[in-house]
Amino acid sequence: MFDTRTGRIRQGGAIAVATVHPVSDDGGWLTVDEARCRARVGIKWGKHGPDVLPAWVADMDFDPPAAVLDTIRGHVERGDLGYGPFAGDLAEHYAHWQDRHHGWAPDVERIRPFTSALHALEVALWNTTERGDGVVVFTPIYYPFLDAIADSGRRRVDVPLDPDGWRIDRDRLVDAIDDTTRVVLFCNPHNPTGRVFDDDEVAAVAEVAERHDLLVVTDEIWGDLVHPGAVHRPLAVSDERFRGRLVTLGSASKTFNLAGLRTAVAHIDHAPLLAALEAMPGHLQGSPSSLGVVGTIAAWTGCDDWLVAVRRTIAARLAQLARRLAADAPSVRFDAPEATYLGWLDFRQTGLGDDPAEALLERFGVALSSGPKFGTNGAGFARINVATSERILDAVIDRIVDAVDQSSIA
Ligand SMILES: Cc1ncc(COP(=O)(O)O)c(C=O)c1O
Repeated sequence: MFDTRTGRIRQGGAIAVATVHPVSDDGGWLTVDEARCRARVGIKWGKHGPDVLPAWVADMDFDPPAAVLDTIRGHVERGDLGYGPFAGDLAEHYAHWQDRHHGWAPDVERIRPFTSALHALEVALWNTTERGDGVVVFTPIYYPFLDAIADSGRRRVDVPLDPDGWRIDRDRLVDAIDDTTRVVLFCNPHNPTGRVFDDDEVAAVAEVAERHDLLVVTDEIWGDLVHPGAVHRPLAVSDERFRGRLVTLGSASKTFNLAGLRTAVAHIDHAPLLAALEAMPGHLQGSPSSLGVVGTIAAWTGCDDWLVAVRRTIAARLAQLARRLAADAPSVRFDAPEATYLGWLDFRQTGLGDDPAEALLERFGVALSSGPKFGTNGAGFARINVATSERILDAVIDRIVDAVDQSSIA
């Protein structure tokens, strides 16, 4: 539990003092040690071997904040790997983080811990819908959403974003809904396009959700990584019509590069899902590990300076990508994202075909995420992850430039 008055956290019975750094505007820059990245067992650098530069899965090459590493190291050094601290404390810290950064004061009683955002998403789908029920997605979309729908036997209701700017088309949304549609899976900021949906787009979703009595599951795990000019507004404070029909997914995993900690939360403003979870055996729902809990709490309490630095570093990398593509591969179209460290690259004017990531991996030693996997409007695209050093990103772009040059010659 976090006491905003004293700045103290209660962890598993003991009281620890949290270092709450103010947000400063000279947060510095984050650096990358390539040898250190290559020594990691994680899939980003491990999957494709030493000859491939990885710019695919959404992990960053920067070390997580020192405060998080120190907290976890402390637990390991004490041999403190017994039961607990349990995940209950996450709720207070998540609520405090949302309040401080996004002007939303979630109801702590409605927050539940999960081992990942996708865990929460699948539990929500499984408990609120039946086989064959319709689930809306705005494509292209982070492809595990599509897998979650298919794997649970639900029906995908595809609402393609408008490729010119990746906006939600209200009429297309209205037309896609029928009386077997039950859920909207929303992702804001949006992966892979990096869009932060505006008030009109959000209002279109709210209108349809209210009219058809739909549950909206909103994945907002990218909400902290917005760029200058964009503002992340949680759906929970965006429109009254979401009240009673909204599940918000949150975690520290994208913001602080902690995906391996397997820790997330869901704020559940939906009585039937809260009741279903009450009725579900506790261990079937699972829970984050003690290291996931203390690492996430450390991130949400003492790492605001790191957040400033990571945003600044990502913004510089995105500018680098834009500059280099404009100069060296102008046939690759790239609209700078409003959030995330992802670029949704349009290769349709190159000779790299429907799945440019495949050719880039096989022939040019660079791993991007395959566009067609993201569903409608994914053909001819690939997703790049720019959260690395200037030097590594330059090397990644060099390989893309080579591929584009050679494909236009062939
Ligand atoms: C939009 C979105 N949701 C969920 C996830 C996965 O999160 P988790 O590992 O917590 O399930 C990602 C990972 O990149 C993501 O981009």
